[in-house]
Amino acid sequence: MKKILIVLAVASMAVFTACSSRQKAPEASNDAAQAVLNNIFSRKSVRSYTDQPVPEEMVETLLRAAMSAPSGMNVQPWHFVVVNTRETLDRLAKEIPNRMLETAPLAIVVCGETMLGEGRPNPNWKLDASAATENLLLAAEALGLGAVWTAADYDARADAVIEVLGIPSNARPLCVVPIGFPAGNDQPKDKWKPERIHYNKW
Ligand SMILES: Cc1cc2nc3c(=O)[nH]c(=O)nc-3n(C[C@H](O)[C@H](O)[C@H](O)COP(=O)(O)O)c2cc1C
Repeated sequence: MKKILIVLAVASMAVFTACSSRQKAPEASNDAAQAVLNNIFSRKSVRSYTDQPVPEEMVETLLRAAMSAPSGMNVQPWHFVVVNTRETLDRLAKEIPNRMLETAPLAIVVCGETMLGEGRPNPNWKLDASAATENLLLAAEALGLGAVWTAADYDARADAVIEVLGIPSNARPLCVVPIGFPAGNDQPKDKWKPERIHYNKW
């Protein structure tokens, strides 16, 4: 009996900790604003997926959201490689390597053109592609999909992605985003840290 009580106490503490570290959207003045805030505050990285395919209309919505991001001088240097065949997902999973791609039915690889033309480098390509990626992740959350940003912008990972997807030399991959319907019950983390805010002077 004593053992059971201890187990119950530990379990309820774990549930309390999980719930109290969950973040909740601040209250907005109307339903539309509240829906936007709820979406931002409920986004989380999802790393396990069911095998249900992602409908094509949803893929287009994700890409439209990504392309509506801001970019330096409105250059829109992004390109997106939609990976939706098991063969290419498996090749990427092995070469990067990336466990999430073994079960995800879809991945979108966010890339950027690194040059502005006339041999001038685009200093903003990563920032622009990052803004597009966050839009894509928020759209995935809104559609009930699970997704996660996985880094592909350095060393061997970038080389593997470039090789498998045939990315041309004027572009680089920023990240690979595995996407699918969530298999688990991932929850958003509470990241609110008032001590990180500085008014007028740090
Ligand atoms: C630049 C960047 C690189 C990331 N790379 C990876 C990665 O390689 N693998 C991974 O599992 N998650 C990766 N993540 C996801 C983070 O681990 C995740 O966003 C963080 O733990 C916060 O959790 P949340 O997204 O649920 O809020 C990356 C996120 C960013 C922004």
